[in-house]
Amino acid sequence: MIMAEAFRLGIAGLGTVGVGVVKNIQQHGDLLAARCGRRVEITTVSARDSSKDRGVDLSAYDWVDNAEDLANSNSIDCVVEMIGGSEGLALNLVRNSLSKGKHVITANKALLAHHGAELAKLAEDNNVSLAYEAAIAGGVPIVKALREGFAGNDVQAVFGILNGTSNYMMTAMRETGRDFDEILKEAQDLGYAEADPSFDVDGDDAGHKLALLAAIAFGTKPDFKSLEMTGIRGVTAVDIAFATELGYKIKLLGIARRVNGKIMQSIQPCLVPENSKIGRVDGVFNAVQVEGDYVGSGLIVGRGAGEGPTASSVMSDVIDLARGINVPTFGIPANDLKDPEWIDQGETVSGYYLRLDVLDQPGVIADVSAVLRDHNVSIESFIQHGRDPDQSVALVMTTHEAKQADIKAACDAIQTLNSVNAEPCLMRIEPLE
Ligand code: NAP
Ligand code: HSE
Repeated sequence: MIMAEAFRLGIAGLGTVGVGVVKNIQQHGDLLAARCGRRVEITTVSARDSSKDRGVDLSAYDWVDNAEDLANSNSIDCVVEMIGGSEGLALNLVRNSLSKGKHVITANKALLAHHGAELAKLAEDNNVSLAYEAAIAGGVPIVKALREGFAGNDVQAVFGILNGTSNYMMTAMRETGRDFDEILKEAQDLGYAEADPSFDVDGDDAGHKLALLAAIAFGTKPDFKSLEMTGIRGVTAVDIAFATELGYKIKLLGIARRVNGKIMQSIQPCLVPENSKIGRVDGVFNAVQVEGDYVGSGLIVGRGAGEGPTASSVMSDVIDLARGINVPTFGIPANDLKDPEWIDQGETVSGYYLRLDVLDQPGVIADVSAVLRDHNVSIESFIQHGRDPDQSVALVMTTHEAKQADIKAACDAIQTLNSVNAEPCLMRIEPLE
């Protein structure tokens, strides 16, 4: 059988993901050739430290110290950017590679969330692809599912667990009661976390991914800067225990939903029923649910981070490009991407979990209830355990549906009561099935 010329890759970045890609190509050479109709070859690699032992044999490849040189190489058809960061080297490398007519594959959601519209246009202008399956939810093939599999649907919502590190951490906190910092270190050692792990725990990483999902779902330019984000730092062992008692788990959810022609987009820890489909997704697993007018609802679950799963997604892009498949970056021509119109988040409606640290004195519940009443917030249930008149106790309430602006104003007022000791902890309750 005559095969076409090899599809030649230059890989920039040989950390968790880059090394996973090298291993896959070394291990699956014949399988890839059969699937692509041509061999996939690495010609050149680059990282910071050429002397580092990375556990793979790199001797057959050219090494360049400056990753930007990959953009100018005549022996590369596709640059695989596995460095990270929204600016600097990664941005220059991707811009230059596309401009020089090279395909680009990246796992870098930060880069695309900030510069996706510009880079998509650059790819189109140069008749090459900008592929990024690994950038969203690690090993979960959600880009292909949303952009191709569900392409016949008018999509109303896309939401789910988009960060493996924080889901791993909250699962471990719930199951073992161990400390936040200790579990974060474990997630870093497992290769799940970002170079700056505050991106994982403060919601930025999930936000980058949600901005890209919203772009594909709604045909809008990725708009990370307008996104409201709350991470998991404020979620305490006490909240996890109360949520469990109420039949919920706490999940960092990314939600993008079309409401009356506008878009609601948020990243925040939410209570979800523990037996709901998303509630059962624990550990490093991610889950993305798509709601479309023909498919109804579809859920895709898989490992959201780590060497193997992420390399698996990069390889799906490699195979697509080696096969000659070229799909618009965000599903429609870059020039047709619209500026998103956001809804006023204060007008969104939800049930809430509210935990207060209060003095255990007569009249406190009456005072708190009065503030909630004055802000149109109706209490569904409340829990207080134990009794200690000299100490503060946790008072937990769940509410019926309330406007976000109303309950936030109520929290501000509650915080000024003499009997309330600390900032209230407020989380949405998402009644998922
Ligand atoms: P990583 O382990 O920290 O690896 C980063 C690589 O980039 C290293 O090989 C490093 O070189 C190289 N590098 C950094 N700065 C450089 C510079 N100035 N010049 C040349 N090389 C440089 O990161 P990773 O976890 O593989 O993540 C890579 C990308 O994939 C990021 O965009 C990340 O968001 C994304 N991603 C990661 C995962 C995951 O599970 N880890 C999942 C999905 C997406 P040295 O090794 O020589 O220091
Ligand atoms: N740090 C990211 C996570 C990697 O934990 O989900 C996958 O994008």
